[in-house]
Amino acid sequence: MPVCVIKIRVCVVDLSQKQIDAWNSDKLPIYEPGLPEVVQECRGRNLFFSTSIDEEIDMADIIFISVNTPTKTQGIGAGRAANIKNCELCARKIAEVSNSNKIVVEKSTVPVRTAEAIRRVLSYSDKGCKFQVLSNPEFLAEGTAIDDLMAPSRVLIGGEQSEEGKKAIATLVSVYANWVPKDQILTTNLWSSELSKLVANAFLAQRVSSINSISALCEVTGGDISEISRAVGSDDRIGSKFLKASVGFGGSCFQKDILNLVYLCESFGLHECAEYWKQVVDMNDYQKKRFSMKMVKSMLNTVTGKKIAILGYAFKKDTGDVRETPSQFIVRDLLLENALIHIYDPQVCREDMWIEMDYTCGINKGNTPRLEESITTSDDPYKACEGAHAFATLTEWDEFKDLDYQRIFDSMAKPAFAFDGRNILDHDKLRQIGFEVYAIGKPSKEEFL
Ligand code: UDX
Repeated sequence: MPVCVIKIRVCVVDLSQKQIDAWNSDKLPIYEPGLPEVVQECRGRNLFFSTSIDEEIDMADIIFISVNTPTKTQGIGAGRAANIKNCELCARKIAEVSNSNKIVVEKSTVPVRTAEAIRRVLSYSDKGCKFQVLSNPEFLAEGTAIDDLMAPSRVLIGGEQSEEGKKAIATLVSVYANWVPKDQILTTNLWSSELSKLVANAFLAQRVSSINSISALCEVTGGDISEISRAVGSDDRIGSKFLKASVGFGGSCFQKDILNLVYLCESFGLHECAEYWKQVVDMNDYQKKRFSMKMVKSMLNTVTGKKIAILGYAFKKDTGDVRETPSQFIVRDLLLENALIHIYDPQVCREDMWIEMDYTCGINKGNTPRLEESITTSDDPYKACEGAHAFATLTEWDEFKDLDYQRIFDSMAKPAFAFDGRNILDHDKLRQIGFEVYAIGKPSKEEFL
């Protein structure tokens, strides 16, 4: 953090003593490049982690609500609507323990008009405190969060368009202005800000689904998706980012936010709008399914009893996060075909894998006999590939580009298959070694010249 921000004291509070202890230790609870350095520099100086929630709320001038808002699993809007229970609980706590006026900032991704719900809860504070609610959505992407924080493309702050609202907006602007140029701090009304977050993620995900839909077309026509991405992305009205074809997008945001948008459209009777955005998620499901089916079909139509190495389980590189990771859908499909899975990922821990697989795919040790034996996690990519009939790169970790593929080939069963779900490997070289290669949106060399 730049020196000028030291005058601001930040305290992160959580109900979980375990989480707070981890944040106060040398082993932070999440992997994020650059984060340990920032925490080490600031912790104990002007950054604190604590479970003293009531005291810290009362001491604060500005409170960020940064809780999770997962997709509802039951009740009204199940499977699409975001659950804002945790936001409301925070608001109730703030109303209960505050003895002075405060600015309350919605940092969590929420459905539009959640600020209204927070405002109503806060208005019941019986100590006469005044609260201003702001929306300040988070645009950090995992793996690059610290860079995104230091040099954001924009900071968005939405607030009530009253005099007090504008004053609150100005206060939060002054915090960010310590390191972000003023013209990159956008201020809007509350509802534009809340909606912009969902729309930004929907547009990003839409680009990935668009390019993935073209990858399927490439495979049957002879086009090469990387060449098309380059050609299309060079038009600066379109832009080159987020045009990498993949086995599908994952992560805690894209699917959740689009479904939230779909639900919003539906609840206002905008069925065509809802259908339009739903298609982005459907395309993503299709892409994942297409990949696992391609694997089975290529491997002589059966993977029963065959060892398959999965290189990469996180939803993207430089994170250990497995939420909605495309890898788990591929693994699920292969498990249903009775394959023996060996997974190597440099950051993912086995326990998180089970939790996510149960939460998202409904697969657990209770309902799937021999699950433990069917999936081996390995701390070495070469071990994971030893004796395997195929390997599949499903996360774009840089280290996968530099593995010794000759050594891997020599240790594998033949014919040896390579499935590149991220188009990160040198396919010509793999073919020279002897692999049968399948990559996303890359036509087979035998079929097309
Ligand atoms: C996203 C938004 O980018 C961020 O602004 C928001 O705050 C949170 O949600 P994140 O989920 O961390 O961030 O990852 P992101 O980099 O957006 O990638 C999402 C998924 O899309 C990943 O699975 C990634 O591998 C995939 N992707 C991305 C592609 O398949 N192709 C691409 O070209 C880009």
